[in-house]
Amino acid sequence: MTDRIVLAYSGGLDTSVAIGWIADATGAEVIAVAVDVGQGGEDLEVIRQRALDCGAVEAYVADARDEFANEYCMPALKANALYHDKYPLVSALSRPVIVKHIAAAAKQFGADTMAHGCTGKGNDQVRFEVGITSIAPELKCIAPVRDLALTRDKAIDYAEKHNLPIATTKKNPFSIDQNVWGRAVETGFLEDIWNAPTKDVYDYTDDPAFPPVPDEVLITFEKGIPVAIDGEKVTPLQAIEIMNRRAGAHGIGRIDIVEDRLVGIKSREIYEAPGAIALIEAHKELENVTLEREQARFKRRMSDEWTELVYDGMWSSPLKQSLDAFIEDTQKYVSGEIRMQLHGGKAIVDGRKSDTGLYDFNLATYDEGDTFDQSAARGYIEIYGLAAKQAAARQARLGY
Ligand code: ARG
Repeated sequence: MTDRIVLAYSGGLDTSVAIGWIADATGAEVIAVAVDVGQGGEDLEVIRQRALDCGAVEAYVADARDEFANEYCMPALKANALYHDKYPLVSALSRPVIVKHIAAAAKQFGADTMAHGCTGKGNDQVRFEVGITSIAPELKCIAPVRDLALTRDKAIDYAEKHNLPIATTKKNPFSIDQNVWGRAVETGFLEDIWNAPTKDVYDYTDDPAFPPVPDEVLITFEKGIPVAIDGEKVTPLQAIEIMNRRAGAHGIGRIDIVEDRLVGIKSREIYEAPGAIALIEAHKELENVTLEREQARFKRRMSDEWTELVYDGMWSSPLKQSLDAFIEDTQKYVSGEIRMQLHGGKAIVDGRKSDTGLYDFNLATYDEGDTFDQSAARGYIEIYGLAAKQAAARQARLGY
């Protein structure tokens, strides 16, 4: 039987050419796998047909939008996951769900190898290949761009020569990856890190310099997950989509950073993640009301660890799974309502409500009738500061 290879297919020029390119180079049959993670754009059926027209023997398409929102974006929200304190892991989150579908397609169509369109310089090759090793270790991996010398120019020549049904003229200067959690834009003139992004870089957000009137939004959370917006029940996918639209209209979630890739290269990235950034902001504030102080501190450290593991392609690692269990446990009281104002590039919380919170008005108030016994503070501080006092006395005595 001929060897079969499953290819992570986007529908774009490079992976469309890769179908024939891989077949020519290896003699294998290629099965295209396209996964909808809310990237928008073309219909899955159109993409499926294009894969077949480009020479795929089978095309597997999956609408994974809810799966992606529920099982990948929601854990990231619970973790308040921001790499370099800013980037909400957009691409890093989508690779594991794509990998899952690739493994399923490989099984269904009897393939023993997977292929992806990544270069040899980025994080995504690592995420795909380590992802596959973790859930389908029997699959081999090849990357035509990295391993079979498929350059952009060769791809254009190949598509024209073989009359592939894919546009080769529209030369987009950027490399873009997008899904419902956000959008990543790199390369082109952005590689000069002094160059400011131009208007055409953005798609999910409007210019925050000219915002419409402020938009007040109420987000209801249950155990760390948004379940209603302005009182209307929503699924996680709907919550992200609605917030993408509303926060996007105010230019919220534009990010411009030089980031440390896993492979040791620093790269300049522009991100847009209006929904993710607004939801994380709301979720963080609800945690301020509901998490116990030490638990909150520890969780911040664990969340950083979780974020780095996910960025580094370790979605299925044992440590990541243990951290999942910890983070999940912290969310049992993260329920309530957050009120936010969306305006001028910012999502600002100005009200919170929770029946499961730890905020106690009677303890906090400076008005009459508070229940806090202030006389207890004196002795507490005496003991709390004892070690510092001893150390200061020694320094005064010895002078160094
Ligand atoms: N640097 C980001 C990451 O590694 C985004 C990469 C997205 N890919 C792209 N072609 N823009 O998660």
